[in-house]
Amino acid sequence: MADINYTDKIPNNVNLSEDRTLQRALEHWQPNYLEWWNDMGPNGSGQHDVYLRTATSTEPDGWANFGHVKMPDYRWGIFLAQAQEQRKVGFGDEKGRDVWQEVPGEHRANLRRIIVTQGDTEPASVEQQRHLGTTAPSQYDLRNLFQINVEEGRHLWAMVYLLQKHFGRDGREEAEALLERRSGDADNPRILGAFNEETPDWLAFYMFTYFTDRDGKFQLAALAESAFDPLSRTTRFMLTEEAHHMFVGESGVSRVIARTCEVMKATGIEDPAELRKHGVIDLPTLQRYLNFHYSVTIDLFGADQSSNAAIFYSSGLKGRYEESKRDDDHILKGRSYKILEAKDGALVEKEVPMLNALNEVLRDDYIRDSGAGVGRWQRVIDKAGVDFKLSVPHKAFNRHIGTFANVRVSPAGQVLSEAEWAMNVDQWLATESDRAYVASLMGRVVETGKYANWIAPPPIGINKQAADFEYVRFN
Ligand SMILES: [Fe+2]
Ligand SMILES: [Fe+2]
Repeated sequence: MADINYTDKIPNNVNLSEDRTLQRALEHWQPNYLEWWNDMGPNGSGQHDVYLRTATSTEPDGWANFGHVKMPDYRWGIFLAQAQEQRKVGFGDEKGRDVWQEVPGEHRANLRRIIVTQGDTEPASVEQQRHLGTTAPSQYDLRNLFQINVEEGRHLWAMVYLLQKHFGRDGREEAEALLERRSGDADNPRILGAFNEETPDWLAFYMFTYFTDRDGKFQLAALAESAFDPLSRTTRFMLTEEAHHMFVGESGVSRVIARTCEVMKATGIEDPAELRKHGVIDLPTLQRYLNFHYSVTIDLFGADQSSNAAIFYSSGLKGRYEESKRDDDHILKGRSYKILEAKDGALVEKEVPMLNALNEVLRDDYIRDSGAGVGRWQRVIDKAGVDFKLSVPHKAFNRHIGTFANVRVSPAGQVLSEAEWAMNVDQWLATESDRAYVASLMGRVVETGKYANWIAPPPIGINKQAADFEYVRFN
């Protein structure tokens, strides 16, 4: 069952050929998807042979299959993690009962909304990243970008499968609409804010894959707990792909830092403006990018108090991160959680019912997790002997959703006046001139084994390939 059938027109491990209605719906959607990919997928890449991994099964070792393929020929399909025998609902009012194989009528609207919102982020990120191929710092990086893009495309397939199999005509309409919205489009934008931002350069791409794909990890992990078993199984397999996306982000930023520190040590220069003359990204600029991507991403978890979050949890639709590892009653009625609010010019704690604060619970879990990688980046700086401290901004900094949407807060967590904010914001968030400088570094490097000046080579190749491996054949 875990093995993927590649002989069908649509690769799958769900016995698609036995469900003719679904098969027809998906085969109808497939050409529209390919049209979207050709219009909005990686720019000018249709003829390249790219060294990609393709899943052969949904077992942990199912990723062993690597080979050169043209991306439009990538075998997108429907892959679910193996069913867990006798799985029970792990939280909420139905805790302990059998999980659902079909959508209960009373939860239909909420489940559809959850699936559509998740599904919408997948093509959005491909659209955001579609121009990056023209400025790749190496074949290795170009290949990683393309790998992420085809997998985000498959994540869209995963959500479309759920919509078409379980939501009838509404689901089919939603599946079409997922191909019609466009990232950043004024008339028909993607659903969530961060997915309408541009990813204009490779530093932004690494920050996005480190921070924003990690939001994906937490959302998927919460959905993997769902009482709706097909959603749990699709998201469990998607999580295995997400790990590579975050790796690309973490190692990418790490290599930028390593190269900058190398030049700083070799030249003895610390002044950012002087350092820029050597064509590397100064660490204050990197910090401002970090501040931007971090703050935009934590907005994705939603308002700190949300009655929807309570409903999603109590009805078993969306759990907490690592729900089963927590030792409480998994029902949470009568429990409280501390959130922050701005009061009389200071940030103060406030206790609220935990059920209403589950967005904040997930955000706080995310914050803990994302800080670990920033610590590893710091070690690269320390090891090089460079005197610079990276930091993660306060969670109230630069927020546009929830309690802090109308409060100005510094990265250190101080509540500010509008004037204080305006005076300092250029030190905290990447400016037009920062972005213009980073953009000026983005030239295409495609010779095998060569890297742009502003980034260090990776310590090891993909699938342990040698340093001069040809990851992309340009046709
Ligand atoms: Fe994804
Ligand atoms: Fe991802």
